[in-house]
Amino acid sequence: MAKASTMQKKRWALMVLLLLSISTVGVILVRSIFESCSFGGQFVEKKNGGDNSALKFQSNPLAFMNSKLVLLVSHELSLSGGPLLLMELAFLLREVGAEVVWITNQKPLEEDEVVYSLEHKMLDRGVQVISAKGQKAVDIALEADLIVLNTAVAGKWLDAVLKENVVKVLPKILWWIHEMRGHYFNPDLVKHLPFVAGAMIDSHATAEYWKNRTQARLGIKMPKTYVVHLGNSKDLMEVAEDSVAKRVLREHIRESLGVRNEDLLFGIINSVSRGKGQDLFLRAFHESLEIIREKKLQVPTMHAVVVGSDMSRQTKFETELRNFVLEKKLENFIHFVNKTLTVAPYIAAIDVLVQNSQARGECFGRITIEAMAFKLPVLGTAAGGTMEIVVNETTGLLHSAGKEGVIPLAKNIVKLAMQVELRLTMGNNGYERVKEMFLEHHMSHRIASVLKEVLQHAKARALR
Ligand SMILES: *[C@@H]1O[C@H](CO)[C@@H](O)[C@H](O)[C@H]1NC(C)=O
Ligand SMILES: *[C@@H]1O[C@H](CO)[C@@H](O)[C@H](O)[C@H]1NC(C)=O
Ligand SMILES: *[C@@H]1O[C@H](CO)[C@@H](O)[C@H](O)[C@H]1NC(C)=O
Repeated sequence: MAKASTMQKKRWALMVLLLLSISTVGVILVRSIFESCSFGGQFVEKKNGGDNSALKFQSNPLAFMNSKLVLLVSHELSLSGGPLLLMELAFLLREVGAEVVWITNQKPLEEDEVVYSLEHKMLDRGVQVISAKGQKAVDIALEADLIVLNTAVAGKWLDAVLKENVVKVLPKILWWIHEMRGHYFNPDLVKHLPFVAGAMIDSHATAEYWKNRTQARLGIKMPKTYVVHLGNSKDLMEVAEDSVAKRVLREHIRESLGVRNEDLLFGIINSVSRGKGQDLFLRAFHESLEIIREKKLQVPTMHAVVVGSDMSRQTKFETELRNFVLEKKLENFIHFVNKTLTVAPYIAAIDVLVQNSQARGECFGRITIEAMAFKLPVLGTAAGGTMEIVVNETTGLLHSAGKEGVIPLAKNIVKLAMQVELRLTMGNNGYERVKEMFLEHHMSHRIASVLKEVLQHAKARALR
C-alpha cells in the first residue's frame, strides 16, 4: 500500500514536470483577469482513486447536497482564479452526488483550446455543460435548488437570459465575489445584488470594501454576506507534503533558472502588472543588495524570480521591469518566467514568497496559503486578504503598500537573508496555520454552512 502510493507520488512529480514543459510552449495563462485578486492557479489532474467510501461520504460536510440540482454560472472559462475556483466547487459537489450544471457566459467565438480542455475535464467528472443562452438555461435556472453566480461580472447573465424570470430565481442565488475594483460597482452588473439569498466573499477586507462601496456609489445594500476564506486543494497539499516531489521540482526549476541549491531565491508569483507590485519588489530587492554590500553582511548569493510574465499583454510595464534589471546589471540574479499552468514547481523552488499587491491588496491571495503549505515565510503588503492570512512576525513580515513600503521590504529581505532559523521557523508556523485554517476541508465546511442557509432561504421564499 505504502509502496503503491510512493509510486503514485513519483508519477505525480513527473506529471507536474510534464505539465510544466507543456505550459512553456504556450497557450497557458493564469490569473489573467483579476488585477486585484488572485488565487493560485495550479490546475492538476486529480487521480481517480475510487476512494469515495461510504464513510468518507457521510462525514463530508457537503453531504446534504446529495441529489440537489445546482447551476453554476461562470463569467468565462479560463485558467484564471475565479473560474478554477468555481470548477473546484463543481467537483466538490459532484463528489457528494449533486447534479451540477455549468454555464459559461462569455465564450470566445472561435474554438479555444483552454475552453475545450476545461469543458472536457468537467464532462469527465459528470458536470453538465450547457449553453448560457436559450430555453434550457432558463428551465434549469427555474428548476435548480441553488444557483451560484461567480464574480460580479456574471451578473450580466441574469437579465440577458432570464428576463422576466429573474425575480423568481433571486431567492436561490448565492453570489460568489472575488474582486475589489471600482468598475464593478456598476448597476448593470450588480443591481440585483441586494435581492439575492447571499453573497460569499473571500476575505473580510473585500467584504468590508463591497459593503462600503455599494452603499456609497450605488446606494444599494449588500445581501447577507458570508466571508469564506479559501483552502488549498488536496493536490497541492500532496506535493507540499512530499519531500521527494518537492526536491525534484526544486532542482529542476533551479537548474532551469541557473540558481544553485545553496543560493537564496525570493519569488513573486502573480500575473505581472502594476497592481501586483513587481516593480516595487525589484526596487526593494536591489535596495537589499545595496544594504548588504554597504554593511558587508554575510548572506548567501541572492536571486529573485518573477513568475507570471506576459510580454504581449503588459508590454510597457514588462519593458520597464526588464530595463530596471539591465540598468542595475542584475540580469544574472533576476529571472522572469512566463505565466504558467502550474505554480507548484516554482513554490517548491523558492525560499521566500513575496506578496507585493498594491493599493487595497489582494482580495484573498491564494498563492499565499499555497506558499505557506510549502513552509515558506511570506513577505507581504499590509493590505487586503494578506493581513488575514499572514501573521506579522510569526508566519512572515508585513510592509506597507506603495513607495513607502520599498525600504521596509528591503530590510525584511535582508532580515530573512541573514537568519536561516527565522526563515525556517516562520515557514513552519505558516504550515501549521494552513493545517489549522486553510485546507480544502476547512473551505468545504465553510461553504457547506453557507449553502445550507441559502437552501433554507430559498425554501422559505418558495413557500410564501
Ligand atoms: C468602510 O467604512 C468604514 C467607515 O466609514 C471605514 O472605517 C472602513 O475603513 C471602510 N472600509 C473599507 C474597506 O473601505
Ligand atoms: C515567454 O513568452 C514570450 C512571448 O510573450 C515568448 O516570446 C517566449 O518565448 C516565452 N518564453 C518561454 C520560455 O516560453
Ligand atoms: C509588523 O511587526 C513589526 C515588529 O513588531 C512592526 O514594526 C510592524 O509595524 C508590523 N507591521 C504591521 C503591518 O503590523
